[in-house]
Amino acid sequence: MSHSQINYSNLIIRRANIQDLNQTIKKAIINSLIFLAPSILIALIVFQYEIEPLIIALTFSPYLILCIFAFIYNSGRLLGFFPKQPKNTHTWVAIYMGKRIGSTDINSQSNYSVLETLYINRSFRSLGVGTLLVQTLASEEIKPLYVQPERHAASFCEKLGFVPVNQTDLPTQLKERNSLFTSKYMVLR
Ligand SMILES: CC(C)(COP(=O)(O)OP(=O)(O)OC[C@H]1O[C@@H](n2cnc3c(N)ncnc32)[C@H](O)[C@@H]1OP(=O)(O)O)[C@@H](O)C(=O)NCCC(=O)NCCS
Repeated sequence: MSHSQINYSNLIIRRANIQDLNQTIKKAIINSLIFLAPSILIALIVFQYEIEPLIIALTFSPYLILCIFAFIYNSGRLLGFFPKQPKNTHTWVAIYMGKRIGSTDINSQSNYSVLETLYINRSFRSLGVGTLLVQTLASEEIKPLYVQPERHAASFCEKLGFVPVNQTDLPTQLKERNSLFTSKYMVLR
């Protein structure tokens, strides 16, 4: 259901805590199990129709390996065997009436930050949540704040005051990440 408006006094924007991160990891584990379900179906078909199991195994093995890898990796994160987040990364969340409706990761370096994976739930878009989320974190994070927006989101970033930045003016680490297939970085100073 799409919302036409929200009560902003019920909207909380804050840094994610350990419970938020565990919740995200649990969702990823459930997703990997859901994606494993088709392989059970395939096993049943193989059994039923006596299809050459080797052909099926070769066709689906990359998919299976990915699912199993995701399951093991996320379970390891949940149990504390692997870090919950990549180094120098933390998350901001937008919570509406107790439900997470948006989030973004921030990669913090000593003299700049990078905004990554900004996402607002479909039913809460165009209500100003994305704007509030970015404005709130921008007031607390190390500036300049860089973003490499998806093409359609460049105008959203412009409205927030981000401006295009030349490749030569980027921090070295970001230059390495830039490629032909991604849009240009923008910066908020
Ligand atoms: C881009 C995104 C984060 C914006 O969040 P939001 O809460 O909908 O944004 P706001 O309501 O604060 O939007 C403010 C303005 O930005 C612009 N804008 C927002 N989303 C836009 C989009 N997808 N395309 C073009 N302009 C957009 C609009 O001008 C909007 O003003 P309007 O509501 O008067 O039209 C959200 O659409 C989203 O999660 N998209 C999918 C993932 C994505 O593209 N992430 C961005 C990576 S940088």
